[in-house]
Amino acid sequence: MRGVPDMSEVGELLQEGQARFVVPEKLFFNPRARLARDFGVLGLRAEANLQERRLSVIDLMAGVGTRGIRYALEAPVERLVLNDANPDAAEAIQRNLERNTLPPEVQVEVTCEQAHRLCYTLRLRNEGFDWVDLDAFGSPSVFWHAASLVVRWGGVLYFTATDMAALCGKLRDPAVRHYGAVTRPWECSDEVGARVLFGALQQSAGERGLYYEPLFVLDEGYAMRIAVRLRYGSSGFPVQRIGWLVQCMGCYSQTTLPLHVTVGRCRVCESENVQWAGPLWTGSLYDMDFLHLMSVEARKMGHAAALRLLRLMLDEADSPAGYYAAPELGKRAHLKRLPPVDALIRQLRQEGYFASRTHFETAGFKTNAPYPVAQRLAEQLQ
Ligand SMILES: C[S@@+](CC[C@H](N)C(=O)[O-])C[C@H]1O[C@@H](n2cnc3c(N)ncnc32)[C@H](O)[C@@H]1O
Ligand SMILES: [Zn+2]
Repeated sequence: MRGVPDMSEVGELLQEGQARFVVPEKLFFNPRARLARDFGVLGLRAEANLQERRLSVIDLMAGVGTRGIRYALEAPVERLVLNDANPDAAEAIQRNLERNTLPPEVQVEVTCEQAHRLCYTLRLRNEGFDWVDLDAFGSPSVFWHAASLVVRWGGVLYFTATDMAALCGKLRDPAVRHYGAVTRPWECSDEVGARVLFGALQQSAGERGLYYEPLFVLDEGYAMRIAVRLRYGSSGFPVQRIGWLVQCMGCYSQTTLPLHVTVGRCRVCESENVQWAGPLWTGSLYDMDFLHLMSVEARKMGHAAALRLLRLMLDEADSPAGYYAAPELGKRAHLKRLPPVDALIRQLRQEGYFASRTHFETAGFKTNAPYPVAQRLAEQLQ
């Protein structure tokens, strides 16, 4: 094992969670992605609790290794593979591993391979993992097939997408190319993006007689992080939950429709001026039990920011697809002041509708009420 060089030669020693690491010049490390790494650790701890054992983990694009080292230090891991195609990154991972004392139970391996090649090689050796981390730049779709070859049945894939312009409807062509879907720059564009991602992933799994169940979606504005559980069998494929999100441009109500329905009329106001996004996932984006387990872990570890977000996710876990933004409502209804979101949610619930906040948008609210109802209640709150 090579000795750790003098710090003055390699840069500042950083710490995130329990991991100590150095980021050599020209290598990628994003401190802003800490929340995504925290969510990874919490998810992995939740999963280890569910499985009641130590887990095997592969980080296909490990950068300088911070995420994987945190997994080994902060969660019960038995095997850890850290991979990066850049030889300098692989070298940095090795050195950063030497800066940390991993539990003796963890068997660690560092590889320097193209992610596809590594996945196919591992698959040929029949090696599957409980937790597969895929932290690619841009769209992850090109890696889905290979990555799902190394997720064991029942295991978890935790992936990133940073192609937000495509996902949120600003760039149409790449959304069609990567996901075969139409995205829209609506007020709920981030959620449309998450649903398009999950719908497209589902279809890529369906080709192989597999499907995924959602665990959570974390929207960070500049990136989307999604954790899903792989299941075996064509009969379980959730065909009913692939469809469209429709927004009426007359009354602004949002609604979902199954894939085979192509009637272009708003269910609330009968307007034909409707827009469609999809195909996309119309079911829940969250597994409530998993969120509860993660919340327990977040409390134990003192992750206040993660806990706050997990509470929001629990609130919206059972919500209909889509959400509305209070500022948009204020503009459309020519209100003098921004509708107070909490009060509006209370009023909607009093009228018997579902209503919650959403982690996708600070000033957002979810409801199954027709938009004109929300508008009337907002006017009454002025
Ligand atoms: C977003 S960074 C990873 C950051 C890391 N997961 C973290 O949380 O700190 C993406 C990494 O993927 C690597 N990479 C890009 N394309 C790859 C490929 N096809 N196979 C393997 N690694 C790749 C890059 O060298 C880069 O280090
Ligand atoms: Zn309408």
